[in-house]
Amino acid sequence: MAEWKMICKVEDIPQLGSRVVTSAEGDIAVFRTSSDGVFALRDKCPHKGGPLSQGLVHGEQVTCSLHGWKLRLDTGEAIAPDVGCARRYPTKVEGGQVFLEI
Ligand code: FES
Repeated sequence: MAEWKMICKVEDIPQLGSRVVTSAEGDIAVFRTSSDGVFALRDKCPHKGGPLSQGLVHGEQVTCSLHGWKLRLDTGEAIAPDVGCARRYPTKVEGGQVFLEI
């Protein structure tokens, strides 16, 4: 059953960067945007499995470092013309702490 897990403080995630959380379901990339939005996606690109945590965050998207696919951080969906979806995990920030529902 899914439960909220405290991961780290918001400032532990570099702005426009990410932090990798290991889970029983595989690695999860937790991203922080320039406006301190926090989003989590499975750390596996829907194209060829590249690590999204190594990607470039811009706005509310991440560009995969391998072949440049862009994914929406809020849904995990690829931006057209690419088609695919990385699993998204709900996040919340309370009192400066990041929680992940896994
Ligand atoms: S593996 Fe991510 S774009 Fe190819």
